[in-house]
Amino acid sequence: MYTDSHCHITCDQLYSHIDEVLENMDAISSCLIMCTNEEEFLRAEKLKEKDSRFKIAFGWFPGDAKEIDEKKLMLLESYLQQQRVDVLGEIGLDYYWDTSFNDLQKELFVKQIELANQYNVPISIHMREATKDCLDILTKYAKTKIIFHCFSGSTETMKECLRLDSLISFAGPITFKNAKHGPDCVKECPLERMLTETDSPYLTPVPYRGKENQPKYVEFVTKKISELKEIELETLCEQIETNFLSLFN
Ligand code: NI
Repeated sequence: MYTDSHCHITCDQLYSHIDEVLENMDAISSCLIMCTNEEEFLRAEKLKEKDSRFKIAFGWFPGDAKEIDEKKLMLLESYLQQQRVDVLGEIGLDYYWDTSFNDLQKELFVKQIELANQYNVPISIHMREATKDCLDILTKYAKTKIIFHCFSGSTETMKECLRLDSLISFAGPITFKNAKHGPDCVKECPLERMLTETDSPYLTPVPYRGKENQPKYVEFVTKKISELKEIELETLCEQIETNFLSLFN
């Protein structure tokens, strides 16, 4: 029924009790596992082998840009060549924690977009405190579909994002009491351009905020959207799954 377009269930924290995480996923119809290193990726492949609801995303995270050498890029390319990657990501720019290597982040971002173009896979975008640079680069280089993961910008920024061939993915923060732009963006985002996600184990939605997040909690993100958009939950779930699957046609 529900779609989780961005979760980290093969990170050490969630993978340490993966059986329980999977048992809780009965109401999930599609799920994209985000992998930020080789180990997480190989774990995700094992899950996907046994369960067709899973798709796999792999890419080098902007915050790790200093550690990404030629060898690591070649590893990513070999997975793409072997068609083992459904989505390239999460990739992008993050100027929130550290602005000392912005150029390196940009370089890595462009290289990975070009790989996505070459192998014709969608990209999942992490964009934090870097909206202008990120959108400039995407406008110039991106040729495949774009997912703006955990969108938290203004409605103006969202409109710029929507000018690209993109989907806007909403996560737990839209349920928070202090949610700033999230609810307005949900209201203004066309239904056929939206996705739901958890970004688990982070950003747990209300009423479980503060606890460990899991894909099952995407239910609360989806219910919040159905409330804000005044649309029946079932209709919304179907539309979101259609949007998600359209990435892979
Ligand atoms: Ni993530």
